[in-house]
Amino acid sequence: MIKTLISNIDELNIDKEEIKKHADLLAKGKTVIFPTETVYGLGANALDEEAVKKIYEAKGRPSDNPLIVHIYNENEINSLATDISEQAKKLIDEFWPGPLTMIFKKKDIVPQRTSGGLDTVAIRMPSHPIAREIIRQSGVPIAAPSANISGRPSPTKGEHVCEEMNGRVSGIIVGGDCDFGLESTVIDMTSEKPMILRPGSITKEQMEVLIGEVLIDPSIEGKADIKKAKAPGMKYTHYSPNGDVYIVSGDEENVINKINSLIEEQEANNLKCGVICKNKNIDKYKGQVIGLGNNLEEVGSNLFNSLIEMDKKNIDVIYSEAFSNTGVGRAIMNRLMKSAGYKVIEV
Ligand code: TXA
Ligand code: MG
Repeated sequence: MIKTLISNIDELNIDKEEIKKHADLLAKGKTVIFPTETVYGLGANALDEEAVKKIYEAKGRPSDNPLIVHIYNENEINSLATDISEQAKKLIDEFWPGPLTMIFKKKDIVPQRTSGGLDTVAIRMPSHPIAREIIRQSGVPIAAPSANISGRPSPTKGEHVCEEMNGRVSGIIVGGDCDFGLESTVIDMTSEKPMILRPGSITKEQMEVLIGEVLIDPSIEGKADIKKAKAPGMKYTHYSPNGDVYIVSGDEENVINKINSLIEEQEANNLKCGVICKNKNIDKYKGQVIGLGNNLEEVGSNLFNSLIEMDKKNIDVIYSEAFSNTGVGRAIMNRLMKSAGYKVIEV
């Protein structure tokens, strides 16, 4: 697992006044975008209905899709949620601060608008020093979805977030690239057995070592109707670049040949094609090629960024290699499948 690269706020080339200014905006009920170790987040005071409303407006997000509440100190959980199990405490000890979101029964202090009308609340304690500092200084828990317009890939680079969200929020703190590049793992701790509602960098296997069996919502693995997904956000079209994404899966040599022949066909129709692949295969493809990395962690951290880069190159059709569906690969394939609208070409 990649640990966040920046461990100390003093190591960051960022003006402390800048953080204070933005924390004050949050305290006043405004919206601020800031980096986290997963993706950039679009924050507002989680306990202020009017502030939270601005998040939904800025993103164009459906109002039944609940938000994650970000806290600075793990004790804050007790003012927001009830029935914190021993299993949850073990996960907190091991993975907080970090890319794990847990769902609990909510207390009344959490507004319905934050929880999308549910009686549960999603809570996460991020590890990125800017995220931590801005939450601490604002003095309130911060609701923050990924800082993209609803349906688009989540931004993991400061320049992308500025291009997409400038003018939609009261402030943006640019703080470099996000390490993990995939949103946090979401796990429901209210069910009899803990259940992953969204896979992420903290894997089922890592959690099972600590707390025994962890289930995965069958609808996100393609085993049941996606409309029945327990995390409302998983039902919506998501992570979609402007180009049409296809996953090509099978024996590696066949995949490479298939993608190159598809590109030839598409280019004959005047369509611009792009490929996203493992670094070792970069030279084997025609068209605009982006290597995602040498291992699954690197692929996860570069995936959304590559989709946004394809848009910048005005690519019409994007072909992606498939990745292993184990460990972090589960999160990668989940996001990739959604961005492709589940279009897979088997070869
Ligand atoms: O890494 C992350 O989690 C990022 C950064 C900014 O912290 N945030 C993020 O938030 O990805 P968002 O809003 O884009 O995704 C939250 C997901 C959605 O799928 C939502 O439906 C689900 O969590 N969720 C939130 N509260 C829930 C609840 N009470 N029950 C079930 N699902 C919930
Ligand atoms: Mg999102």
